[in-house]
Amino acid sequence: MCQAWGNPSSSHPTGKKAKELIGCARESLARMLGGRPEDIIFTSGGTEANNMVIHTACRHFHENQRGTGDNRGTPHIVTSSVEHDSIRLPLEQLGREGLAEATFVPVSPLSGQAEVDDVLAAVRPNTCLVSLMLANNETGIIMPVAELSRRIRALNQRRTAEGLPRILVHTDAAQMIGKGRVDVRELGVDYLTIVGHKFHGPRIGALYAHGPGTTAPLHPMLFGGGQERSFRPGTENTPMIAGLGQAAELVSTNWEAYEAHMQDVRDYLEARLEASFGKQRIHFNSHFKGSKRLCNTCNFSILGPGLQGRRVLAHCKVLLASVGAACHSEKGDRRQSFHCQLHLLLKETGVGTAVTVPEPEGTLHGLRGPWHHRHRGTQVSYGSGALPARLADVRELCLPGCS
Ligand SMILES: Cc1ncc(COP(=O)(O)O)c(C=O)c1O
Repeated sequence: MCQAWGNPSSSHPTGKKAKELIGCARESLARMLGGRPEDIIFTSGGTEANNMVIHTACRHFHENQRGTGDNRGTPHIVTSSVEHDSIRLPLEQLGREGLAEATFVPVSPLSGQAEVDDVLAAVRPNTCLVSLMLANNETGIIMPVAELSRRIRALNQRRTAEGLPRILVHTDAAQMIGKGRVDVRELGVDYLTIVGHKFHGPRIGALYAHGPGTTAPLHPMLFGGGQERSFRPGTENTPMIAGLGQAAELVSTNWEAYEAHMQDVRDYLEARLEASFGKQRIHFNSHFKGSKRLCNTCNFSILGPGLQGRRVLAHCKVLLASVGAACHSEKGDRRQSFHCQLHLLLKETGVGTAVTVPEPEGTLHGLRGPWHHRHRGTQVSYGSGALPARLADVRELCLPGCS
C-alpha cells in the first residue's frame, strides 16, 4: 500500500512495481499448487471463483453445441449435497431459470464422502461439469477428488468417441489449502478454487484453471479493462494480491508443520471433550473409518435431550465455535439441507447438538491464542488446564451439577 500504490496497468515506476508484485504473487500461488503462473486468475474470493466455473461450463456446453449443430438441451452438472452455498445456490438458480440441470449426490452415511461411484452414476449424456469440494467446511471430511478425476478422464475418452460433451472437473479447495497437501497434478482437475482467508491470507481468492481458455475453457462473467487476460477484468487489488502471495509462500514452506500442529490441537480438544463429558455424551460426527479428515476441524454433538447448539455455545466463555458454517450463522440453528445430511451421519438421531470448530474462519477460534502463538514462532503449552476449565462451562449446561 505504501510502495506499490500505482495502477498495475500504468507504465510509471509505481505501476511497474505493482505489476511485479502481482506477478510474484501469481508465481507463489502456482508453486503452492504445483501449477503454472498462467493458470492462476485472481478473483474477489471463493464465491466468485465457484460461480465462474459453473458459468464457464454452461457457456462452453452451449458454444460446443452451436459448433456441431447438435442439440442436447440444457447442460447438466453433478455435485455433492454438502457443497458450499456458492456452488449450491447458483445451480439452484440456474435450475429455476431452466438454464441448467443439477444433481446433488448425497454423502455416504458410512464414509461422510460423496462416493466416486455415486457421482459417476449421476452422469448423463448432457453432463458438462462435475464439481466436488476437496474437503467439507463443516465435517472436514476429505473427498476422493483425485480418484474421481481419474475415472472421469477415462470416461471422457469414451464420451469423445460417442460424440458426447467432455466433462470438466472442478474442486473447491477452500478448506484444504494450508491444512494438507494440495497438488493440481495429483488431483488432475481442470479447475480449483482458492480462498485466501482460509489460510491466513487476505479476503480475496483465485481460480486455478489448467490452461485457461485453451485446455480448460474459461469464460469471464465481467467485461472491462482487460486485466487478468480479460478472464476477470477490473483494476487489480495489489495489496490483497500481494498478501495472498505471501500466505501462499508460507503454506508452501510450512504446510506440513501447520498440519501437524493443527492436528495436535484438534486431537487435544477431542481428548478433553471426551474426558469432560464421557464417551456416552459426546459424538464426533466426522470420525469415519477409512475417511480422511481435515487436521483443523472438529465437528461433534453433545448428546442429551432438548439441547440446542446455540444455547450450549452461549455458555462457552472462551472457546469460540459455531453450529454450522459461519456463512449460515444468520439462518437459524442449522441450515436445513446440511442438517439433514448431518443426521445421516449421526449415530444417534434426534439427540444432542452439532458443534463445529473449524479454523481459521469459524474457527479454531477457541484455540486461536495457542495457534497464533505457535504460528508466530512461540512455544505453545497446553499444560495450563485452561481449556478443560472452559469446557466445564458447557458441561455444566449439559450435565447440570456435574462440573
Ligand atoms: C468450501 C468453501 N467454498 C467457498 C467459500 C466462499 O468463499 P468466500 O466467502 O471467500 O467467497 C467458503 C467460505 O467459507 C467455503 O468454506
